[in-house]
Amino acid sequence: ANAANLNLDDIQGDILIGMKKNQELFYFFSIEDPSDFKPKLASDILPNITSTSQLLDVSKQPVTMLNIAFSATGLSALGVNESLGDSAFAGGQFKDSRSLGDPGSDNWVPEFAGTDIHGVLLFASDSQDNINDAVFELESALGGSIKKVYSLAAAARTGSQAGHEHFGFLDGISNPAVEGFNADQAMPGQARISSGTILLGESGDFGRGRPAWAKDGSFLVFRQLKQLVPEFNKFLVDNPIVGNGLTREEGSELLGARMMGRWKSGAPIDLAPLRDDPELGADPLRNNNFTYAHADLDLSTDQSRCPFSAHTRKTRPRADQGENLVTQIMRAGIPYGPEVSDDEAAANTTSTERGLAFVAYQSNIGNGFRFMQQTWANSIKSALHLPRPCRIMYSLSTSLSFVNPGVGVDPIIGSLAGAERVIKGMDPSNANQTITLTGNNFVISRGGEYMFAPSLSAIASKLSV
Ligand code: HEM
Repeated sequence: ANAANLNLDDIQGDILIGMKKNQELFYFFSIEDPSDFKPKLASDILPNITSTSQLLDVSKQPVTMLNIAFSATGLSALGVNESLGDSAFAGGQFKDSRSLGDPGSDNWVPEFAGTDIHGVLLFASDSQDNINDAVFELESALGGSIKKVYSLAAAARTGSQAGHEHFGFLDGISNPAVEGFNADQAMPGQARISSGTILLGESGDFGRGRPAWAKDGSFLVFRQLKQLVPEFNKFLVDNPIVGNGLTREEGSELLGARMMGRWKSGAPIDLAPLRDDPELGADPLRNNNFTYAHADLDLSTDQSRCPFSAHTRKTRPRADQGENLVTQIMRAGIPYGPEVSDDEAAANTTSTERGLAFVAYQSNIGNGFRFMQQTWANSIKSALHLPRPCRIMYSLSTSLSFVNPGVGVDPIIGSLAGAERVIKGMDPSNANQTITLTGNNFVISRGGEYMFAPSLSAIASKLSV
C-alpha cells in the first residue's frame, strides 16, 4: 500500500526528482553572522527555493532553480544543536574520509578538509549566465552574513554525450521509485522503496530521535569525484577482453562495460553480455529490467553475463541480496570540468580536472551512500557474501557466509586508502582472471561534505528564527 501522499510543496526539488538542468553551481558557504543571516534566510532564500511540486509543473519552474542544505557545523552556527540521529552527518565527511577509502586528505580540495563549510546553495539553470545573475542577486541581498568558501561549476555534457558521465556511460537511468510519490508509475526493474528511506520522519525511516522539524528533509552527500578519463581509456585499450569473436576494439569496449555493468549506451550487460545494444539502452521499459538472476545459470558463481564487482552490481546487488530496500540512494549528480582535449588524449594523461559532482540523498547516511562505498564498493567480496544493513541482517543470518570469495573491488569507485586494488571477473570466460591496478585509481575523491537539506517549513519555523 502506498504511504500517505507526500507534501511536495514542502520538499526541496532536488531530493526526489533532481533539478536536472544543464548547468549547476554548488556554492559552499560559511555563516559569518547568524543574526544577520537568519532573517535573510527567511526573506531572500526561502521564497526562492524550488520545491518538488514546482519542478513537476513546467509552468511554475523558475529560470534558475535554488536548493539549500546545511552541514552539522552550519546547523550549530544557527544555534540548532539537537541531534538529527545520524552520526556520519554529525561528524562531517572529513572525519569519515579514511573509512570511505580516501587515501588521506592530500587529494582533498583544501576547503573540504575540515568542518568550516556551513552549507551549500545549489543553483541550476540552462545557462551559466542565468546562474551568475542569480548568484549576484543573492550575494547582494545576503551581504556579509555569509562568505563563499568554495564553489564548483558543473555542466551536463552535450551532443551525443548528453546524459553521459565523463567516461562516456549513460547515467541517471536507475533511481528508486518512492512510495507516496512515484511508486505507482515505477518502471520495470526500478526498486520501489519507502519514502522514509530518503526522507526523514516518513514511513520507513527507522532513525531514532529525529526532531519533528527534520521531517521531510534528507541528508545530502556531496563528493567531488575526479575522473581520469584519458588514463581510463588507455587502460581499456591496453587490456581488451580477448576471444568471443570480438575485435580488439570490441574487447576494450567490453572491458569498460563489464567494469560499469552497463554499456556506454546504458544497455545493461546482464541483458546484452557481449555487444552493446543502443536500442535497449534507450528503452526505459527494458533498460532497467534485470536482476542478474537467470534460470539456467548459478547466481552464486556465474559471472558470464555480469561480474560481481561491476559498479552497478556492487552498488545495487539486486537478486544477489533479494533487492535490498534499505541501502538505496537518490542520485542527482552532474559532470564537471571540460571535455578531454586532443593533447590530453594523445598523452593519455589528464591535465585539467574533470569528474562527477556526486550528489546522493538518503534518510540515513550509514545505510545509504556510506554502506555502498565502504561495505560494498571497497570490499573484495561479492554482494552474496557481504553484510546488509542491520535492520534486515537477521533475515539472512543463516545464509551469510564468511568465506571470502574474493571477487575484487568496484573497478570504478572502489578505493582502499591508496592500497593496490585488485579487480576480478572481467573476463566472461575466465572468472578467476585478476587485474591489479597499480598507480592511480580512475576515480579520485577530492572530498566533500555531509549536509542536511531541510523542508521549506523547517527553514521557516526553525532555522531562520
Ligand atoms: C549507477 C557512474 C560514483 C552509486 C551508475 C551508472 C553509471 C555510474 C554510468 C549506470 C547508470 C544508472 O544505472 O543510472 C558513476 C561514476 C562515478 C560514480 C563515473 C564516479 C565518478 C558512484 C558512487 C556511488 C554510486 C560514489 C555510491 C557510493 C550508484 C548507484 C547506481 C549507479 C546506486 C545505480 C545502480 C542500479 O540501480 O543498478 N553509476 N558512478 N556511484 N551508481 Fe555510480
